[in-house]
Amino acid sequence: MGIYSERIFPWLVDRALDKPAIDERRARLVGNASGDVLEIGFGTGATLPFYDRTRVRSLSVVEPSAGMNRHARARIEQSGWKVRLDALAGEYLPYEDNSFDCVVSSLTLCTVTNPAQVLKEVWRVLRPGGALRFLEHVASDDPARRKWQDRLNPVQQVVGVGCNLNRDTVAAIRAAGFILDPVNQQIEPSFPLAAYLPIVEGVAYKPPA
Ligand SMILES: C[S@@+](CC[C@H](N)C(=O)[O-])C[C@H]1O[C@@H](n2cnc3c(N)ncnc32)[C@H](O)[C@@H]1O
Repeated sequence: MGIYSERIFPWLVDRALDKPAIDERRARLVGNASGDVLEIGFGTGATLPFYDRTRVRSLSVVEPSAGMNRHARARIEQSGWKVRLDALAGEYLPYEDNSFDCVVSSLTLCTVTNPAQVLKEVWRVLRPGGALRFLEHVASDDPARRKWQDRLNPVQQVVGVGCNLNRDTVAAIRAAGFILDPVNQQIEPSFPLAAYLPIVEGVAYKPPA
């Protein structure tokens, strides 16, 4: 792995996303997570301070990047919380079927290699009635912006270490079988290149058995 992806990028992501408005979104994303919780693409662990420990019975996280995991392990240690960290990708999860009440994805489905496979695994490990809580940047529903997202995507994949500007993540979540209310795109002005990174936040459910 290169110095950029393993050393510089984790630092860059932390700095770029260290903004009060993004903290607010992270707090909304994970503050209501409860029961046995799994976070995919944990990165440097920036969501950790926003979990409500009185609601979470267990927290497991997966993250394939060694550079990200170095930061994440330090954060976990500082927190004094017992968190299971598996250094692997979300496409094949090492957990039993129906093991979690909640799965969290924070700016991860833009980057995973195979979103449909990750969502299939998320579905498998969620208990019936369980929730996928997500905060993601997605393909714009404005055609002019979308055209620019397509043009800029090859650059973003390099700069963002596999990140894509133009994924229709909400459609992918629905295609995986989840129940999801309509989701509105928002522009988050704190984001670099905000106009090309429309944000969606939501909770998608695996139907009860
Ligand atoms: C933009 S970062 C977001 C990190 C963190 N969730 C946050 O909100 O700050 C995307 C993360 O997805 C991770 N990732 C990349 N491929 C993945 C995969 N196949 N499965 C799970 N995570 C992956 C990256 O290593 C990176 O940590």
